Amino acid sequence: MSRVLITSAIPYINGIKHLGNLIGSQLPADLYARYQRARGSEVLFLCATDEHGTPAELAAAKAGKPVADYCAEMWQVQKDLSDGFRLSFDQFGRSSSPQNHALTQHFAGRLAEAGLIEERSETQVYSPADGRFLPDRYIEGTCPNCGYDRARGDQCENCTKQLDPTDLIDPRSAVSGATDLQERETKHLYLTQSKMRDALRDWIDAKTDWPILTTSIAKKWLDDGDGLQDRGITRDLNWGVPVKKGDADWPGMEGKVFYVWFDAPIEYIASAKEWTDAQGRPDADWQRWWRTEHGADDVRYVQFMGKDNVPFHTLSFPVTIMGANATGEDWKLVDYIKSFNYLNYDGGQFSTSQGRGVFMDQALSLLPADYWRWYLLRNAPENGDSEFTWETFQAASNRDLADVLGNFVSRVTKFCRSKFGEAVPEGGAYGEAEAAALADLDARIEAYAAHMDAIEIRKAAAELRAIWVVGNEYLQAAAPWSVIKEDEARAAAIIRFSLNLVRLYGILSAPFIPDAADAILKAMRTDAAWPKSATDVSAALPAGHEFDVPDNLFAKITDDQRDEWAAKFSGVRD
Ligand code: MF3
Ligand code: ZN
Repeated sequence: MSRVLITSAIPYINGIKHLGNLIGSQLPADLYARYQRARGSEVLFLCATDEHGTPAELAAAKAGKPVADYCAEMWQVQKDLSDGFRLSFDQFGRSSSPQNHALTQHFAGRLAEAGLIEERSETQVYSPADGRFLPDRYIEGTCPNCGYDRARGDQCENCTKQLDPTDLIDPRSAVSGATDLQERETKHLYLTQSKMRDALRDWIDAKTDWPILTTSIAKKWLDDGDGLQDRGITRDLNWGVPVKKGDADWPGMEGKVFYVWFDAPIEYIASAKEWTDAQGRPDADWQRWWRTEHGADDVRYVQFMGKDNVPFHTLSFPVTIMGANATGEDWKLVDYIKSFNYLNYDGGQFSTSQGRGVFMDQALSLLPADYWRWYLLRNAPENGDSEFTWETFQAASNRDLADVLGNFVSRVTKFCRSKFGEAVPEGGAYGEAEAAALADLDARIEAYAAHMDAIEIRKAAAELRAIWVVGNEYLQAAAPWSVIKEDEARAAAIIRFSLNLVRLYGILSAPFIPDAADAILKAMRTDAAWPKSATDVSAALPAGHEFDVPDNLFAKITDDQRDEWAAKFSGVRD
């Protein structure tokens, strides 16, 4: 049995995520996790909240709460929403967990041992008006690389370049807007990433099957002179993982914490330990996923993330892993990185800071998860940015879910109930029309699986829709409602075949629309093993098998609803 470790980029704790965040990482990761489980793989699917750093501190201050309390509350909010969207994480951890503290300190110790950490006295931006140092996002300014004038101290959102606060041109305090900033001496730890340039290049060059979006970003910063410049990994903040060398104190680093982008990816590992610790299981049970010599050599590790996260996952985090491994450890490196462009909102950008777009809680207050999952996944921003509009949302829901899948399920089951009763009808035999539909379906199921294996999400969605269409067209042509007047046995065969397609659709659709799939399979009173082919399961429900007519699976979105929602979400959230 193959084993697949799947992680989604861990969302920042500050506030509820919008649909652009959701489709940029967590939702596609869930699609893949569900698919892999359905195919019989052993899956460990991990996510968490990213709780440290300035975004958390700034948001807690704004909410008027101690940062630890704020994070605990927001973790619960995000957890409930991920449950609402049916994100099937095995563990939704917290980067502030004791497990992550210990592992982050452990890795820092190993990196020091590997000669990859240097202590440097540096100048940092100090704001007399705010009475403090201004790390990362406490400071904004113009990007030295692309000229974007709202670049943050840690990264330019526009060109994805990783920055240090002192790189910014015309810097200002994000807290007070003060521009009378000074530079003051302070001591920090630096990760000397550039020493790993050759190792990183060899590693990435070997990844010929990675999406171009991933490798192009990785190579851009690898080849660029300062893409791999040494990075400060400590900060003068109170909230975070205290700087230690393993269990030992780090002289000179008292009162400092690790930089959020140092500890956040380590939470991928820590969340696996949170998972086994919560169940009272031994460390061996998570290490078999993460340590090659502890059983993870046959694990395939796949990461999902937005494009702005790619440099951290192709350069910085691998340096952490490779560095620890240089001291004799055996941590697993990622095997495949699926990255995404951005989803835009109705002619502009989704924006958390500006409250623009539709947020996860708002979406679920309008419609159940499946509607959003289907729309977002079928329009996943894989080969370029894509755009959310209410028209395309309405059209995708109505045309795909209601008119094609929902309609097929409802017509077949209701017709059967009215003519034969709520059991698969007996009589007749499958003939040419069924053989033709099966040949079509067999080819499409193979294509669907191939796209899912390759994590080509739009192509997989299009193929799944085509699979639904085959059933509709078959039913339309076979016309059991006319046939039954002449030949009841033939009508019974058509319906028996169609009920088996309903079951098949329940199984194949589950990764995309788990609730509807569940409802279908419950109504058909059947299990959910992934089929070898349509032909193979064309008589899985034998004559006499009882079922229930499911409630309508999907309601249509009316023009009034569409217009009302478009108006309601045209401004900014308060
Ligand atoms: N919180 C980051 C973001 O939303 C992602 C962190 S991913 C991890 O952009 F690797 F650091 F965990
Ligand atoms: Zn830039």
